[in-house]
Amino acid sequence: MASIGVHEEGTASAGIAAAAPAERKPMGMLGFLACLLQYMRPYRGKFALVFLGLLAEMAVNALVPLSFKVLIDRAIPERDGAVFAWVILGLVAGALLFALGGLARDYLYAELTGQLLSDIRRRVFDHLQKLSLGFYTRTEMGEILARFSTDLAAVDNAIASATWGILPSFDLALTVVLLFLLDWRLALVAMLIWPLVLVGPRILAPRAGRASYSKKEGEAGTITLVQENVGAQSVVKAYGLEASQIAAFGGRNWDLRGRSARLGFLNALIERTANLGILVLQILIMAVGVRMVLAGEMTVGTLTAFQALFITLSYALYNVAQYAPNLIQAAGGMHRIEELLSVAPQVTDRPGAGELPRIAREIAFKEVRFGYSDRQPVLRDVDVTIPSGAFVAFVGASGSGKSTLISLLMRFYDPTSGAVLADGRDLRDVTQASLRSHLGVVFQENFLFNTTLRENIRLGRTQASDAEVVEAARAAEIEEFILGLPDGFDTLAGERGGRLSGGQRQRIAIARAILRDPSVLVLDEATSALDAATEAAINETIARIARSRTLISVTHRLSSVVHADRIYLLDAGKVIESGRHEELLAREGAYARLWRKQTGFVLAHDRGDARVEPERLRSIRLLERLDVAALHELAPRFASENFARDRTIVREGDPGDKLYIIVRGTVEVARSDPESGRERRIATLQDGDYFGEIALIGNTPRTASVRTLTDCLCLSLPRGQFLDLLDRLPDLKTEIVQEAELRARGLAAGEHASA
Ligand SMILES: Nc1ncnc2c1ncn2[C@@H]1O[C@H](COP(=O)(O)OP(=O)(O)OP(=O)(O)O)[C@@H](O)[C@H]1O
Ligand SMILES: [Mg+2]
Repeated sequence: MASIGVHEEGTASAGIAAAAPAERKPMGMLGFLACLLQYMRPYRGKFALVFLGLLAEMAVNALVPLSFKVLIDRAIPERDGAVFAWVILGLVAGALLFALGGLARDYLYAELTGQLLSDIRRRVFDHLQKLSLGFYTRTEMGEILARFSTDLAAVDNAIASATWGILPSFDLALTVVLLFLLDWRLALVAMLIWPLVLVGPRILAPRAGRASYSKKEGEAGTITLVQENVGAQSVVKAYGLEASQIAAFGGRNWDLRGRSARLGFLNALIERTANLGILVLQILIMAVGVRMVLAGEMTVGTLTAFQALFITLSYALYNVAQYAPNLIQAAGGMHRIEELLSVAPQVTDRPGAGELPRIAREIAFKEVRFGYSDRQPVLRDVDVTIPSGAFVAFVGASGSGKSTLISLLMRFYDPTSGAVLADGRDLRDVTQASLRSHLGVVFQENFLFNTTLRENIRLGRTQASDAEVVEAARAAEIEEFILGLPDGFDTLAGERGGRLSGGQRQRIAIARAILRDPSVLVLDEATSALDAATEAAINETIARIARSRTLISVTHRLSSVVHADRIYLLDAGKVIESGRHEELLAREGAYARLWRKQTGFVLAHDRGDARVEPERLRSIRLLERLDVAALHELAPRFASENFARDRTIVREGDPGDKLYIIVRGTVEVARSDPESGRERRIATLQDGDYFGEIALIGNTPRTASVRTLTDCLCLSLPRGQFLDLLDRLPDLKTEIVQEAELRARGLAAGEHASA
C-alpha cells in the first residue's frame, strides 16, 4: 500500500512516495504523546488548570478507601459518633467539589480538544497549499482526504477520551504511595502488579502499532477507491463496469476487514493479558494479607483499606490498559499526519529571491530539458525566445509536451537542466508570487468555485474592485450575458461552474485572467473543446485583449494560431519546426502535413454539422486509389455525428460497419489487456484523424474501443454506402478488399488504428 513519503517530494514513485524503510517504523504511544505535547504548547496555562482539576479529583477518589481505615479501626470499635460524622461530612464535601470542579474541567478540556484538533487540521491544510503541483499529480486524493477524516478521527478519539487514561494514571501514582504508607510489606507484594500486568502489552503494543498504521492505510485505500468510483460514474455506466468495480471494492474491503480484525484482536489481547495479571495478584494479596492479620501483624481496618486501595489501583490499571488501544490507533493516525507534514515542497522560493518586475523584453527557454521522472524525458533541448508583445504558438500532437512547457513557464516544475528566463532572470531566482502575478492563464478546463460569478472573476486579483470586475467581464465579452441573468453578477456558478456552458465558463476564465492585467496571457487549449462557432468568437476576443500583451497559445488546432508571429511545432518534446504559418506551409514538412490533416472540412456553424471536401478523402489509405469522380460521389455520403464527452463511439469486439473521421475533438483508443482484463489507452486521436476503416470492407469485430475525451464532431461513412459505390468499380474493388484484408491481419497482430 502506498504512503506519503517523508523526504523530498521528488523522490516519488508510482503516485505516492514510499518512505525510507527506517522511517516506516510506526509511531508508538510515547511518540504520539510527545507529538501531542508540541501541539499543546501554546495552551500550556489552560492545560495546567485541567491538570490541577485532575489532581483534585484524584485526591477525592483516594479519600473514600482511606476513610475505611478510620471508620473500621476507630469510629466503629470506639463507637465515636463525632469521628463518624466528620468522615461522612468530609466525604460529602469532597463529592461536591468533585462534581463542580469536574464540570469546569470538562468544559475547559472540551474547548482545548477542539482547539488542538483545529490546529492540526489547519496545519495540514496550510501545508497542502505549499506543496507543488507534482505532489498532487502523484498523490491519490483519498490519501489526502483520509488525513482529514479517519486519521484525524483516531487522534480526536484519543484526545477526547484522554481523561480515561490520565485520571487512572494519577490514581496509580497516588495509590502506590498510600499502599506503602499503609503497610510496606504488603505493598511490596502489590508491586508485583507491574511486571504481571505490563509484560503482555509490552510485547504486543509494537505489533498493534504496526497493525494500526496498516489499518489506516487500508482505510485511505478504500476512500481513494470510493472517491475514484464516484467521479467515474459516467464511464462506469457507459462501459457496464459496475460488476468489476464492485469486485475491486470487495477486494479492498476484504483487505481492510483483515487489517481491522488483526488490530482489534491485538488490542483485545493487550487488555486481556493486563486483566489476567490483576486477577492473579488480587488473590495473592488476599492470601498474604489475611495471613498477616491472623499472625497479628496487621489490623483488619488496614487490610480492608489496603484491599480497597488495591482495587482502585487495579481499576486504574485496567482503565489505562483499556485506553491503550485508543492511543495505538491515534499513533497510527498521527504518524500519517506527520508524514504528510514532512513532505517538502519541490518548488520553493530561494532564500533572498527577488520580485520579478513586469516582463518588458522577453521570455526565454534556454536548452531546457525536463521529465516528470528520471526515466522519461518529456522536453528535450527546448530553445525558444518569446519577445514581449508577440503572439507565439506551440502546436503538436497530444503528449508532445505543450502543456509541460507552460508548466515550466508557470514554475509548477523546475527544468532538469537549462533554464527558463524572464528578462534574463532565471525563474528560480524570483518569487513564485511575483512571477505568477504577471501571467494570466486560461486552461482547457477552468475551475469555477461554487460562489458568485463576481467572486469567480475576482479570483484573478482578489483586491480588485467591483467596477474592475465588471470591466474585465466586458473585455471578455461576458458582461452582457451575466447582466441578463436574474441575479446578474451574484449568480452562483454551480458546482465546478456546472450552471454555465463551456463557452461561458471559458469567458469567465478569460475575464479572470484579464483582471490580473498580466503582461503575458497564456492559453492552454483554451478554446479547443468548444464548438467551432464559440471557438471562433472567443479567439476573436482573445486576439483583441492580447494586442498589448504577450500571447502564448498552446493548441493542437492549427486554425486557431495561423496569425501567430511564430509557431513552434513540438514532437516528442522537441521543437522540430518553427516559423510563421505561411513559411511552415511552404516548407512542406510535418507542419504542412498536420495542416492538411486538419483542413478539408466545411463546417456549418449554425447547424453544428460538417462536410468533407472530396480531395481530402484521398488521405485515407483505403480511399487513396479512388479517382476524382468517385471521391466526389463518396463525399456527400458521409453523415455528421455529434458525440458528447465521455461517450463510447465504438466498442472493442462489437461488429463494425462504419468509418469515422474526427472533424473536431479528441478521442482515446483503448484496448483491453488480455492478461489483466483492464483497458489500456493505446492512442489519442484528434482533429483530422480517422478510425474504423476496415469496417468498410467486412464485418470484422472492432479491435479497440474509442471513447470521446471532449465533445466531438465526426463524419461517418456506413459500409453499405461504400460497397454500393465499389460495386460499380469491380477492378478497384478487388484491389481494395485485398489490401484491407492484409491490413486487418496486421491490426489483429497489434498495429493500431491511426491516421
Ligand atoms: N504529471 C505528469 N506526470 C507524469 N507524466 C506526465 C505528467 N503530465 C504529463 N505527462 C507526460 O508528459 C508528456 C507530455 O505531456 P503534456 O501534457 O505536456 O502533452 P500535451 O502536448 O499538452 O498533450 P495534450 O495535447 O494531450 O494536452 C506525455 O507523455 C504525458 O504522458
Ligand atoms: Mg496539454
